[in-house]
Amino acid sequence: MTTPAPTPAPKSMDDIMALCKRRGFVYQASEIYGGINGFWDYGPLGTLLKKNLRDAWWNDVVMFPCWGRKGPTDERVSIVPVDTCIIQNPRVWVASGHAAGFADPMRKCPGCGHFVRADHLWDILATQSEWLSSLLQEFTPITGEIDTPRLIKWARGRGKRVAPHLALVKQPEVVLSFLATRVNGQPDAPPDLQEIVRYIATAQLHATGLQDPCPRCGAPLGKPSAFKLMFESWAGVVQDDDHRVYLRPETAQGIFVQFKNVVDTTRVRAPFGIAQTGKSFRNEVTPRNFTFRSREFEQMEIEFFCHESEAMAWYAFWRDWRMEWWKSLGLAGDNLILREHEKDELAHYSKATSDIEYCFPFTSPGFGELEGVAYRGNFDLTQHQQHSGVKLDYFDTDRGELLPNGSRKGERYIPHVIEPSAGLDRGVLALLCEAYTKDDSRPSPEFMKFHPRVAPIKAAVFPLVNKDGMPEVADRLHADLSRAFGRQGLIETDAKQSIGKRYARMDEAGCPFCFTIDGETLKDQTVTLRDRDTGAQQRVGIDKVVGLVGDALSTSG
Ligand code: GAP
Repeated sequence: MTTPAPTPAPKSMDDIMALCKRRGFVYQASEIYGGINGFWDYGPLGTLLKKNLRDAWWNDVVMFPCWGRKGPTDERVSIVPVDTCIIQNPRVWVASGHAAGFADPMRKCPGCGHFVRADHLWDILATQSEWLSSLLQEFTPITGEIDTPRLIKWARGRGKRVAPHLALVKQPEVVLSFLATRVNGQPDAPPDLQEIVRYIATAQLHATGLQDPCPRCGAPLGKPSAFKLMFESWAGVVQDDDHRVYLRPETAQGIFVQFKNVVDTTRVRAPFGIAQTGKSFRNEVTPRNFTFRSREFEQMEIEFFCHESEAMAWYAFWRDWRMEWWKSLGLAGDNLILREHEKDELAHYSKATSDIEYCFPFTSPGFGELEGVAYRGNFDLTQHQQHSGVKLDYFDTDRGELLPNGSRKGERYIPHVIEPSAGLDRGVLALLCEAYTKDDSRPSPEFMKFHPRVAPIKAAVFPLVNKDGMPEVADRLHADLSRAFGRQGLIETDAKQSIGKRYARMDEAGCPFCFTIDGETLKDQTVTLRDRDTGAQQRVGIDKVVGLVGDALSTSG
């Protein structure tokens, strides 16, 4: 019987963030000024990793769509690119619904000024409120009697520090006597926890009734109001309402508003897609979890236009292929799931949506969204047609009645849309989390198992010692590899330090191949190939090296 492999320890986000900083993957934006919440910069290795992921998407979506696969209508998938502006006519956002609806319901605390998402309040209280968790340790009101002396002790000591505006802290006797009647007086119908927490928070019970408490200081929260998520600015010198503009919150709308131009100026025929990558901006209320929820981020979006009768088949095609694509870059196994939305999660115009989700260390054992694949009906084009007054229908010459001359009469319709919408920065974060590996038994305990296609450094060439003709051979191999792959990533060479330290540096950068030139090389034209993931070494002919790296880089589909 074989002993089961030990379960790997959960990855620590702190360790991953420390490596990202140390090796130049991700830096805090404006760090020397104390940073700015929700904004991140990429360092040299991170920029290359992000570019490689964007290039992989671009090559597999735009240049060679879906690896040459045929779609459900038995035609090759056809996609064209656009590159549209971050700032659009503000009427675009009225038509898309963002101007009116793209807002989070927020509640402000009059006690400490903290803002909290109204729809997340009770989750936040349950998981992040320090005062509530320490209060619950003192007091299990559902099951037991109220221990008044203990609660008064908590209110006067710890409560004053962690929940200065909580009614229980300000007026312990009033709150406790009320609770004693409500909880102890009615053992058969105990109030639920939310009701009790509201009693504890509400200073003027009789005057104000029950109110929701601030997770930070305990004061009763104000009423919800809409917090707009779009960043605003002005176009031109006059800075008034008539000149207000918005930074786009998604790249998708630029595609919809150029749909007619693309149809009129190119030879696309439905079904076809329009794709673009680019920055989007959302003034997120609570940016968090490293780059996962940022205020400035990059998206990779496809709007795929087709006839309504084929839309569900195209939806299934895109959903499955996008999942396969993420897997091809190394996000495989149990860490990646496809989650089909329930009916009550769907937008009113959507017939089906699924999310591709990754198990990040900060969501584990849960998952966080990487990409959404949505069947959006013909909602967006219809909205823009109504608001702009410009016809956005499509004349399909492959449909309609068959005419005696063998051609078709044609059919005019507003195409239905499948939208695979991915986050580039979230993708990079998932690649970083997936690649990060810790193994204390290795001389270099932390290493990054990037798929060769996305690895920022593709290969490294080391002369074992900086003499005896080895540097010259290393230079020649470095030049050959750079000619072949230098446009896809860095090819490094390094003659300093011990060979172990040089391997360790490459391991942390996630370089898949290290080739070492040693005494044997000069005799038999072989080099040592060291495997990043196992540390195993083997000899390969120096003339095989370029082919070997090329095979690994071209693996997809
Ligand atoms: N056009 C559809 C759309 O924008 P979305 O689900 O809001 O849909 C698509 O965004 C993807 O963009 C998400 O799956 C996620 O990867 C990324 N994304 C959205 N908000 C983000 C944020 N604040 N920070 C980083 N990535 C974000």
